[in-house]
Amino acid sequence: MTPTTSTIQLTDLSTPESKNSITARFANDVKKGLTQQQKQLSSRYFYDGEGSRLFQKIMQLPEYYLTRSEHEVFTTHQQTIAEQLAAKGNFHLIDLGAGDATKTKIILKQLLQQQADFDYVPVDISGDAMTELCEHLQAELPALQAHAVVGDYFDALEWLDTNKPGRKVLLFLGSNIGNFNPDERSAFLQKVRSHMQPGDMLLIGMDQCKAPETILKAYDDAAGVTADFNLNLLHRINRELGGNFETDQFRHFALYDPQIGVMKSFLISQQDQNVTIKATEQTFHFHAWEAIHTESSYKFTLQQAETIGNEAGFNIQHIFQDKNCYFADVLYVVT
Ligand code: AVI
Repeated sequence: MTPTTSTIQLTDLSTPESKNSITARFANDVKKGLTQQQKQLSSRYFYDGEGSRLFQKIMQLPEYYLTRSEHEVFTTHQQTIAEQLAAKGNFHLIDLGAGDATKTKIILKQLLQQQADFDYVPVDISGDAMTELCEHLQAELPALQAHAVVGDYFDALEWLDTNKPGRKVLLFLGSNIGNFNPDERSAFLQKVRSHMQPGDMLLIGMDQCKAPETILKAYDDAAGVTADFNLNLLHRINRELGGNFETDQFRHFALYDPQIGVMKSFLISQQDQNVTIKATEQTFHFHAWEAIHTESSYKFTLQQAETIGNEAGFNIQHIFQDKNCYFADVLYVVT
């Protein structure tokens, strides 16, 4: 790919309207979720500034094995991963939800070392995260060609179809796929697939099924960081939507269902109470011990990884794992 004047570029696809519609959608989703018989709030809204800071803390926790395990997968298999991604010639390496790209940098360094013909396209909804990442990439990997895109995943993929045609290698790391329910997951994968051509690749990080105690501890840590992360959702509703949640009247509760392979997180109302949220123009009643479901984190067997991929039009090319087999990064190719 021909180097441009600057090796690191940034395109912001977000607009003031899209920012307003995010708040409107948040209010709408909260209203819908809290009027259901079994109340729920989407984990999509965990990640405001404070939520992202708490998630960074979670990733450092001794109990939260996911990040360390995927880091081990990348460190151990970096050479093979880079060789397989680059085997079919030049490509765009598109990192969906790149954040600070800690794990991706391991592969970027390998690709540069192997003199692969590629550019790096980190995509994230957070403009601050992408600006910071561009600065770090410039300093740490000056030989890298990169073009960061700020926006929604699918707006970014559409933009890429027009502005950066060519072979795509998509990354979707960190077991983010686990936060979709099965219907959302298959819709997501089919939509991703619709932006891909035969020969394109998709590397997905998947947390694997393991001892329930290990999983449970990762989502109910001794220091209470995950509890704060979960409760931040109520703080965010207070801050952004004019809610009056008394957050100390709610508590975090986590449980793992080993038959379905899903970790579920809840916020439990510790007393009978009413909460008013200005942006929804509504008051919501919570009875004592009523639960709000806030997050599902699905875990996968390798068999499921194959089925899920096949259903969306992908075949597994390679599975990379850590030595405990806690985590798998599954490399799919478009069939
Ligand atoms: C971002 N996602 C993959 C995390 C997970 O493990 O489901 C979010 C998280 N929730 C609680 N701890 C971490």
